Amino acid sequence: MTAEIIDGKAFAAGLRARIAEQVARLAGDGLVPGLAVVLVGEDPASQVYVRNKARQTREVGMHSVEHRLDAATGQAELLALVAALNADPAIHGILVQLPLPPQIDAAAVIEAIDPGKDVDGFHVINAGRLATGQPALVPCTPLGCLMLLQDRAKAQGGDLSGRRAVVLGRSNIVGKPMAQLLLGANATVTIAHSRTQDLPAVCREADVLVAAVGRAQMVTADYVKPGATVIDVGINRLESSEPGGKGRLVGDVDFAAVREVAGAITPVPGGVGPMTIAVLLANTLTAACRASGRAVPTV
Ligand code: GUN
Repeated sequence: MTAEIIDGKAFAAGLRARIAEQVARLAGDGLVPGLAVVLVGEDPASQVYVRNKARQTREVGMHSVEHRLDAATGQAELLALVAALNADPAIHGILVQLPLPPQIDAAAVIEAIDPGKDVDGFHVINAGRLATGQPALVPCTPLGCLMLLQDRAKAQGGDLSGRRAVVLGRSNIVGKPMAQLLLGANATVTIAHSRTQDLPAVCREADVLVAAVGRAQMVTADYVKPGATVIDVGINRLESSEPGGKGRLVGDVDFAAVREVAGAITPVPGGVGPMTIAVLLANTLTAACRASGRAVPTV
C-alpha cells in the first residue's frame, strides 16, 4: 500500500479562506480581530516566522501589530509590554515568540498574558481548561493536527471515536495537548515517549500515530500498523553533505519507508507546518469573538 499524502498546505489555505470570510462578516458588525506578535532579539528563524505571521494576519483582514525588542531587553520591560497589550481593547491575541533570550524567564512571561488573549494556548489556565473540557485556547500545532485527522476521518465516512491513538512525545506544547484533544474526540489515547518499553510495538497498536519527538526519521516502518494515519510534527534539518550547505528538512518519520505501510501520512515540509499559522489566526478569531460576547464560528 502507498499512503495517501495529507496536504497540510492546501488545508491551511482553505482554513485561512474560511477565517477571512468570518473576519469580513465581523468587520461589518464593527469588530476587527487584532493579533500582536512580540519578538525579542534577532534569531533568524524567529524573524521569518514573525514576518509570515504578520503577513498572513493582514491577508485574512485582521489587525496586525508587531513589537520588535532589542536582544538585551529585560524581563520588566517585556512584562510591561505584555501588560499594555492585555489592556488594549484592539488586541485580542498576544503571541510572544519563543525562544526568548536567557535573561528572560519565559514561563513568567507566558503566565503574565491574559488567558483570554493567549492564542498560543501555553498559559496554565488554558492547559487546565483543555484538560477539564472547558472552553480553552488550544496550542496551534496540536489543534492543526486534530483538524487534519478529523478531516481525514470524515472523508472516510467516520470520526476518531473509539480509534486507538498513540502520541509519541510528551511536551507541554504538542504531546500533552495533542493527547487531550484526541481524548476529547473520544479516541483511546496512549502517550509514548523515550522511556516507553518496546516503543515500536506500542506505536504499532495505533490507528492514528502522531510523532512529536524531535528526532529525525526515528519512526520507521516497523512502528506503523498497515493502513494507519501518521501525522509527523517533526522539523529536523539533516547535516548537509557540502560544507556550509543547508541540510534537507525531514520529520520525525522516515517518510519513504512509512508511506509504503501507512494509509495516510503528512509530508515534511507541507504537512503540519503550514497549519500552525492558520490555526493561530483561527485562535485569534475565537479570542475576539469570546471577548466581545459573540458566538465562536466554526471554521
Ligand atoms: N516559536 C516557534 N514556534 C512557536 C509558537 O508556536 N509559538 C511561540 N510563541 N513561539 C514559537
